[in-house]
Amino acid sequence: MQKFTFYNPTRIYFGKNAIDNLATELGKFGNNILLAYGGGSIIKGGLYDIVKAICGRCGKTVYEVSGIMPNPRTEKVYEGIEICKKHDVDLILAVGGGSVIDCVKAMAAGAKTDKDFWQTFYRNKEKCEAATPIGVILTLPATGSEMNSGSVVTKWDENLKTDYTDDCLYPHFSILDPTYTYTLPANQIIYGAVDTLAHAFEQYFSAPDDDNPSDYLAEAVILNVISNVEKALACPTDYEARSNLMWDSTMALNRVIGCGKRQDWNSHMIEHALSGFYDIPHGAGLAIVFPNWMRYVRHLCLGRFVRFAERIWGVNPKGKTDDEIALEGIQAVQDYFRSIGAPTTLTEVGIPAERIEEIAAKVELTEGGYQPLTQKDVVEILKAAV
Ligand code: NZQ
Ligand code: ZN
Repeated sequence: MQKFTFYNPTRIYFGKNAIDNLATELGKFGNNILLAYGGGSIIKGGLYDIVKAICGRCGKTVYEVSGIMPNPRTEKVYEGIEICKKHDVDLILAVGGGSVIDCVKAMAAGAKTDKDFWQTFYRNKEKCEAATPIGVILTLPATGSEMNSGSVVTKWDENLKTDYTDDCLYPHFSILDPTYTYTLPANQIIYGAVDTLAHAFEQYFSAPDDDNPSDYLAEAVILNVISNVEKALACPTDYEARSNLMWDSTMALNRVIGCGKRQDWNSHMIEHALSGFYDIPHGAGLAIVFPNWMRYVRHLCLGRFVRFAERIWGVNPKGKTDDEIALEGIQAVQDYFRSIGAPTTLTEVGIPAERIEEIAAKVELTEGGYQPLTQKDVVEILKAAV
């Protein structure tokens, strides 16, 4: 394994009625709470009333920022920052999925500086010296944002969706009650599962391919997601399936399975550019990009793709070349995404081939898990996805 430093301060409360711990957590912070949520699912599902009641019993003053949209935008962040500064907010409580949590992280960073949050943190990637504390009540298993320090925000007028990571942005606590996910529409279950798988892939397909626990942990997450998605889709109140998917998604991006690995993340960068132009769900974009990225880079790590095909998809290697085995495994990923109802082509989400060059120019490429990609490589990957 490569050398690494691991740090994660987020306290997790997992399981039915985990919300019983909210009052204790609120007791650790001052009086002023900013309750942040999305377009109304928490109101419909009843969670809003529960949270408000607990805050009331704890004697808290609650301010609100609502209507946080999927692929959260800078305007919402400024709204939250203003409330935090005006009311001297002591804790921002994010109730929702990754978009609400990410937006709250940006608010938390911006609330403690006079500088512009977007330019300072998301563009210049300057260190965040202080942030308003964050608490999370998770309603959608997907991003892992409930137990990591990353945040992704979009500046829509520039078609730029970009991320920022800082230790200040780990939630102090996250409440993970799988029953809160019973109300998810099927497409969000699917996108969440694809995102979880994609996080495992980003870490798994990267050097070193030595014998290491991180890769076995990634395989466990991948296999567990695959064996639970259809159960959750068939029976929304299947607690076991919901709890597995919830912990899988947290594990896939709380940095544990990336320990000792270089990690790739270029498929994510490509997806962020797609969402930055077309506002598509993150999981939908990943289902389109990932199999095509895999085919494009497979020669860099053929042995890894052979292991993946055999261990995850049960590909029988007999009489086949390594490349044939690898390609069969990659095809299995794409077939699987299609079978659960995820889009696998740009056409399906309304992205025309003519925009590919423009989109590729916006991709913020990483060093890659094995070797860097160029913008020209991105164009080829996206062309294959039409
Ligand atoms: O807005 P509401 O009404 O709450 O509805 C939401 C939203 O429309 C709905 N929803 C959430 N929980 C629900 C529910 N509907 C019914 N019942 C529930 N229990 O689901 C819709 C999508 O929510 P969103 O938060 O956008 O989804 P997700 O959790 O997939 O977050 C996606 C965002 O996270 C970023 C993505 O790029 C995207 O912007 N990511 C964040 C990461 C991180 N911080 O580490 C890593 C990821 O790779 C990703 O980039
Ligand atoms: Zn993701």
